[in-house]
Amino acid sequence: MTKIALLTSGGDAPGMNAAIRAIVHSCQHHQYECIGFFHGYNGLLNDEWQALTHADVGNILQFGGTILKSARCPAMCDPKGPKQAANTLRKHQIDALIVIGGDGSFRGLEALKAHWEGQVIGLPGTIDNDLAGSDNTIGFATAVTTATHAIDKIRDTANAFERVFIVEVMGRHSGHIAFNVGLATGAEAILSFENCDPSDTAPQLARLISQIQVQQQHNHDSFVIVLAENLWPGGPQALKAQLAEQAGIDSAVCVLGHIQRGGSPAPEDRLLATELGLEAVNAVSRNQDRIMIGKQGSTLQAVPLNGAINDAKPVNGRWVAAHEDVLTEYLIKHSE
Ligand code: F6P
Repeated sequence: MTKIALLTSGGDAPGMNAAIRAIVHSCQHHQYECIGFFHGYNGLLNDEWQALTHADVGNILQFGGTILKSARCPAMCDPKGPKQAANTLRKHQIDALIVIGGDGSFRGLEALKAHWEGQVIGLPGTIDNDLAGSDNTIGFATAVTTATHAIDKIRDTANAFERVFIVEVMGRHSGHIAFNVGLATGAEAILSFENCDPSDTAPQLARLISQIQVQQQHNHDSFVIVLAENLWPGGPQALKAQLAEQAGIDSAVCVLGHIQRGGSPAPEDRLLATELGLEAVNAVSRNQDRIMIGKQGSTLQAVPLNGAINDAKPVNGRWVAAHEDVLTEYLIKHSE
């Protein structure tokens, strides 16, 4: 009987449970055995696992987090780690390993392949949406929704105090969350990797100051800056200090942080996770290897794992241009 192992790895993402559920149901449908390893790749290193059946995945798809727990596993970057993980898979006579995670987790799969003959399949599970080969990753829609609702609330208090707010969103080194959330909330400024060079922030700072001044002169309203994490040298507090020092602008800082990773997955994430989970098991039966299952448009696609990790996944250029050239044009025109 074909035996599939499954784990969730790296930053958890809402919808991982829905993917686990779909994989387990599909395994039962194909009459495959399915076991889950706990705590990401650590479960393979420590041989920590459980057989998974229908009974284990009932009533989980509506919850964030992951029933298999997750972790980052630096040992997989050392040659000994993948070797030990391969031994565990061999010991359990596993035919295929499915990993739900982000680029670091997929690098773990590539490292494992040097020591293990079984099939490896990745499912894109990260709020960052930074994997090529899938329009969206599992968890991204929920993170954007959560951050949007949070900024809508910040906007109320910002309006009441006619205040400048700097709101930092997650995304590691990608601007997908920043741009989507910035557009969805009508942010006056979005500072992200697509429109700001972290090694020379002076032009962006000057532009921002003049835009805030225009806003303050022409209407007494709030000014929300959505800032991508890891972009501005010194982070949002440094930006706040620069606005105060260079232009006497008072601002408040809010770092949304891990609330973007939690909560009940949005329906889009539940559906994406279910489709990708079912397709991952189909890919095992087709003998596919070293692939990630993604969705492009309405089509499910198997893409090479290394492409998913290494190919660029730019933020939609139309949206960047729309924000810079059209939606905030009134702030730029007045400041010229
Ligand atoms: O990759 C998901 C993510 O939430 C990133 O957006 C963020 O930079 C990082 O993980 C935070 O990692 P940790 O939870 O380990 O602090």
